[in-house]
Amino acid sequence: MAKLACLDDYETLARQKMAGGEFGFYCTGAENEVTLRRNREAYDRLLIRPKVLIDVSKVNTSVTIQGHTLASPICVAPTSLHGMAHHEGEKATARACASLNTCYCISSYSNYSMEEAAAASASVDEDALRWFQLYVEQDRKLTEQLVRKCEKAGYKALVLTVDRPVLGRRLQEVRYITAIVLFQYNGLYSSRRYPVTECTCGQYIHRVRRSGFKLPKHLRFGNFEDREHDGYFGYDVDASLNWDDVAWLKNFTKLPIIIKGIMRADDAALAVRHGVAGIIVSNHGGRQLDTCPATIEALPEVVKACRNTNVDVYVDGGIRRGSDVFKALALGAKAVFLGRPIIYGLVHQGEEGVKQVLTRIQKDFEATMALSGKYFPPLLYFSFGLPLKPFFAP
Ligand code: FNR
Repeated sequence: MAKLACLDDYETLARQKMAGGEFGFYCTGAENEVTLRRNREAYDRLLIRPKVLIDVSKVNTSVTIQGHTLASPICVAPTSLHGMAHHEGEKATARACASLNTCYCISSYSNYSMEEAAAASASVDEDALRWFQLYVEQDRKLTEQLVRKCEKAGYKALVLTVDRPVLGRRLQEVRYITAIVLFQYNGLYSSRRYPVTECTCGQYIHRVRRSGFKLPKHLRFGNFEDREHDGYFGYDVDASLNWDDVAWLKNFTKLPIIIKGIMRADDAALAVRHGVAGIIVSNHGGRQLDTCPATIEALPEVVKACRNTNVDVYVDGGIRRGSDVFKALALGAKAVFLGRPIIYGLVHQGEEGVKQVLTRIQKDFEATMALSGKYFPPLLYFSFGLPLKPFFAP
């Protein structure tokens, strides 16, 4: 393939390199993937009005989030099973983020444990910003245990995912994954990129197990190694989770809580009332409720609801270009998070690939800043027909 010029090229490469089911697991959205597509398309409908004759010889993109100054507002969202993309999995991602001074939020469903990822990150930079993404379990003791482990391992915030009370129906997974797991555990893929012992896919394993397939004993569940039973991957997420549980969580940890998965102003106002430190406007990369709006469409109302509070608003979903980052910041996000592109970087070249992806989009973001005249907040236009309808950043 020609030189990788943009984040979409990394996706194309991953599609070529990976088996259908593996790639399908990462790329899929829920149901008809309307939201998955919309997350991207909504960025293309926003236009930037450039301002000229401004000294743009220096562009500063540093940002302070939760008291920590980062070189860039482009951070890494929690995504599961990095071990399926590269044998060094979350350790490679953690090292890449630490060396570029950006925030890595590790998923609950990792192949390497939170301690291993934290050690990998600390081996590059002791002070690198590490967050932990939390699903609240029906077994609250397990959640408490996990939170204590986070505190001990030096994670600086808990990212509480609230848009996944039940799992969205992702058709690519339904079609392919069971077969993939069976292949892996039959050793067919064992000579490939990752050691079979470190590939979990627990949820599918659960399905496979029900179909009578025998799992190897050494099966490993990154952050859930302490569990007595191993058929784990989200079957135990507590669907009864509600706002009282945010208070419960705040009660037993001093770690700041960032809620991930808010898409409306009224929920944002409730989050503020419940004392969270931040909100990630997210629809889980279009993997949960299909036909909900794009995150960039939901962002302005959430930003408005958090105005004059000390709650930071971040956004993820469909961010692939420097201009997307610019638009998200223009509409009030303090930082953005990337999901799938990081995985595609891992598939390409592990730690080095993740660095390439983050560096590419950072450079494009700096170029957009310069080309638009660094004019913040800029005027953006929705391009629905003519005349263009002005859309003012909040
Ligand atoms: C995710 N996401 C996710 N979110 C979360 O809170 N916990 C998780 O374990 C996962 N796992 C996960 C796996 C995969 C393969 C994907 C693609 C996504 C959602 C993720 O944090 C983020 O919201 C989206 O990925 C952002 O959209 P883009 O950047 O992938 O378009």
